[in-house]
Amino acid sequence: MRKNFLFSFLCVLSLLFLFLQFDCSSNKMTKEDQIARGKYLVTIGGCNDCHSPKIMTPMGPVPDSTRLLSGHPAEQPLAAIDPKTVAPGNWVLTDDGTTTWVGPWGISYTANLTPDSSTGLGLWTSDIFIKAMRTGKHMGTGRMLLPPMPWQSIGQLSDNDLRAIFAYLQTLKPINNRVPAPVPPNMLSEKLMNN
Ligand code: HEC
Repeated sequence: MRKNFLFSFLCVLSLLFLFLQFDCSSNKMTKEDQIARGKYLVTIGGCNDCHSPKIMTPMGPVPDSTRLLSGHPAEQPLAAIDPKTVAPGNWVLTDDGTTTWVGPWGISYTANLTPDSSTGLGLWTSDIFIKAMRTGKHMGTGRMLLPPMPWQSIGQLSDNDLRAIFAYLQTLKPINNRVPAPVPPNMLSEKLMNN
């Protein structure tokens, strides 16, 4: 009787142990799981819509798979625009690749998110990335990020999800593309007319 009791007790204990172990390991993501989660979030998060150069098709622009998420192509000229078109209360414009945006904030160009170390996120850490998304400041400490970068909503993701996005971005093919600096509103007319 006593032996039986001890046996059942040990059984329960080992089951509990197995369960706890399983529970812990299911919380611990492998690097591959983390990257897959990041890819999933980037795909549904619409990052390609703004950060990938496009190829125009009759059904609209599609991401250029040879240079995904490499930001506004530095070599691409800007078409001339009458600055009155983008005065407050009028239009906000984007180019046919949706990588350049023009409005009352001036001109913003989408960033290179590939891990190129001189023109992309190669030298960033996941902490810098999280801070930038949460504060809306360039690299988490600099100037405010410009529209239409949706940091206000992306920054609501959990630390784990933001880390997963960053981990996935770091696995992309590094592409050397130096995105131009934004153009402030007071220099808009000059820039838009002269192109
Ligand atoms: C609607 C367009 C749009 C979408 C969607 C978008 N971005 Fe951006 N993003 C921008 C623009 C524009 C900038 C440049 C802003 C600036 O120069 O101030 C930018 C800048 C960035 C930067 C640079 C921040 C810094 O500190 O300089 C990162 C990182 C970034 N985006 C990540 C992402 C990720 C990840 C996603 C998807 C989850 C995403 N973006 C979706 C438009 C977009």
